[in-house]
Amino acid sequence: MAIYFSEKDKFISIKTENTEYQMKIDDYGVLRHLWYGEKVNTDMSYLIKYPDVGFSGNPYDAGNDRTYSLDTLPLEYACGGIGDFRISALSLTHENGSTALDLRYKSCRIYKGKYSIAGLPAVYAGENEAETLEITLQDIASEVKAVLRYGVVEKYDIITRNVKIINGDRPVTLQKAASLCLDIPNGNNPEWIHFHGRHISERLPERRPLFHGIQESSSSRGTSSHQQNPSVILCSPDCTETSGSCIGACLVYSGSFQTQIEYDQLDQTRLVMGINPNLFKWRLEPYGEFETPEVILSYSGRGFSRLSYNFHNIIREHICRGKYKTAERPVLINSWEAAYFDFDEEKIIKIAEAAADMGLDMLVLDDGWFGERNDDCSGLGDWFENKKKLPEGLKGLAEKINALDMSFGLWIEPEMVSENSRLYKTHPDWAIRVPNRKPTRGRFQLVLDMSRQDVQDYLFEAISDILKNADISYIKWDMNRSICDLYSSALEPERQGEFSHRYVLGLYALLERLTSAFPDVLWEGCSGGGGRFDAGMLYYCPQIWCSDDTDAYERTKIQYGTSFFYPVSVVGSHVSTVPNHQTGRTVPLESRAVTAMAGSLGYELDPNTLSDDERAQVRAQIKKYKSYRKLIHTGKYYRLTNPLKENSAVWKFVSENSGEVLIQGIIFRTEPNMKQRTLKLFGLEESSTYINEETGETYTGGALMNGGILLPETRGDYFPVEAYLRKMNFQPPTRLPV
Ligand code: GLA
Repeated sequence: MAIYFSEKDKFISIKTENTEYQMKIDDYGVLRHLWYGEKVNTDMSYLIKYPDVGFSGNPYDAGNDRTYSLDTLPLEYACGGIGDFRISALSLTHENGSTALDLRYKSCRIYKGKYSIAGLPAVYAGENEAETLEITLQDIASEVKAVLRYGVVEKYDIITRNVKIINGDRPVTLQKAASLCLDIPNGNNPEWIHFHGRHISERLPERRPLFHGIQESSSSRGTSSHQQNPSVILCSPDCTETSGSCIGACLVYSGSFQTQIEYDQLDQTRLVMGINPNLFKWRLEPYGEFETPEVILSYSGRGFSRLSYNFHNIIREHICRGKYKTAERPVLINSWEAAYFDFDEEKIIKIAEAAADMGLDMLVLDDGWFGERNDDCSGLGDWFENKKKLPEGLKGLAEKINALDMSFGLWIEPEMVSENSRLYKTHPDWAIRVPNRKPTRGRFQLVLDMSRQDVQDYLFEAISDILKNADISYIKWDMNRSICDLYSSALEPERQGEFSHRYVLGLYALLERLTSAFPDVLWEGCSGGGGRFDAGMLYYCPQIWCSDDTDAYERTKIQYGTSFFYPVSVVGSHVSTVPNHQTGRTVPLESRAVTAMAGSLGYELDPNTLSDDERAQVRAQIKKYKSYRKLIHTGKYYRLTNPLKENSAVWKFVSENSGEVLIQGIIFRTEPNMKQRTLKLFGLEESSTYINEETGETYTGGALMNGGILLPETRGDYFPVEAYLRKMNFQPPTRLPV
């Protein structure tokens, strides 16, 4: 049993394999947070003691006890208006205009299995893989209830959280309903890491000490965004990849979000995460309910590697769904950087023929195949073939690709409409805009109102027709602008504040319908690369195009940041041509391949421009990748260097049984008389002997972990690193013959 509740002591403990989370219901019925960290097996209330803190008032029920203040105590789900002046998790307006909310304990329920959330993506698990705790709190002056739900996946040290708000007999308006409120008393973990960036440069980690006050990482773009990712780490100043304590939180949501951390007057930390309240207002009718998205939490006392391991496992095995959760992903060639909008059937077939000859499994036809889409000014919404480019349609093209022994995939951008399209002419009211104002354009396009059922139905039919009429095994679901002009012609004025969240719910509903109707299709998410790279999208699409930046050097930084929360198997990663189209940089082909192998490998170039020698290299790369694919996608992933600070990006994959190790990466700049640099290979078996298959050298696990290996001597910049080590006498089950 992971969850323990003592009615007598009013004490609740959640235990996972290595961690413990504790709460206590105090004498006034307030649910206090006590502890999140190492397994301690003892009630940690003794650490929660406060003096009389001036200007931190006291609830009336505390009588003359001036040390009892909601402004200082660690609370499990904080509300405003009643004397806690820190950031709150829940705020609402009652019918009489007041915003006070004072939640007290009502009941507790524990059951086997993991709760699910209607209409929202969430961690799923079998009856024997997880447990659920539900704690119901109720306002003392109204019937408003908050059901705090905790899902526990013991073996991966994971606790999920979500909140269901249940209204009483009077209407209320929610202003904020966070998924997570986590108080960390006693000044622990006073640094944070968030993941920021921009288009073509996503999820770069930034680590900072907390300052007193509120720090924030958020998106108001309607998507989880390139600029900030809905994931955050709190850590001790001494936390490294292999030691120190850290807590990770990852929101399972693809829309505007907000992560706030308040470092308070007593050096305590409060982390609040959820839907961005600046774009949110939700009216609850009497007895209506509202469910927040889910947050996945994990604690590691052994540094960031262990934290990432927990998140990789939970996302790969309990968020990703469908056939491609386990099925091997095809190595694909994508037409975008090979041809952009300038193609016809003949050109695509030529690309496919050369690709088939190099051993690629699938051709993906990117943007430009539909309507009058010859540049990015027109055509979105018209999801039927452009017969000038594809005279035999998608069906004919797919048949020709299939005849080359390759499968066929297709790009779409369903949530968008171009003003120059048949769809816009027929349904101008389907595009988002505020009445009497001109809409804002992004890449010349407007956004469809995904909260509308008729829009969802149209897209379901249009995409279903495409999938039924041609043999299509893969869809790249793109979304190429931020959303503003928030307004839906289908919503009453007092419900306009619901639009941003309703958009996301509409998107999820459509994705659920389509992925259920076409379970054999591999769905890849995309938003100008990684602008919607989040655990919400991964519930529907088991891989996401990581970034529009295909420059291998830049990619090592993007993939480094991405790897803190997201597993390698979900990262779409391609080898492109040089000079690179985004940066003009030239990186050797082998280094481009090594970088793209840390993901679901693809190519994004015209193979007809490659020399015979380069084609032979690509052929060998694909064979090698397939031989390592299982180890790469299911092994433990370790970051060995920090490419934002060091002259290299090196990482490794270790099989679950530690029998195999694959080290890959790039040394950025070459140096004359190169200084020797070692890399410690933590996470191996101390007393086992490992052999480098290529050189025949052997080492003990102890030597590799404490002394490490030497990085190779370089010739030229962006020099590839690769070594495969195997435990002596170990027959690797994960490796195919090359
Ligand atoms: C986005 C995607 C690219 C490509 C283009 C097509 O930018 O991220 O990979 O599909 O759209 O317009």
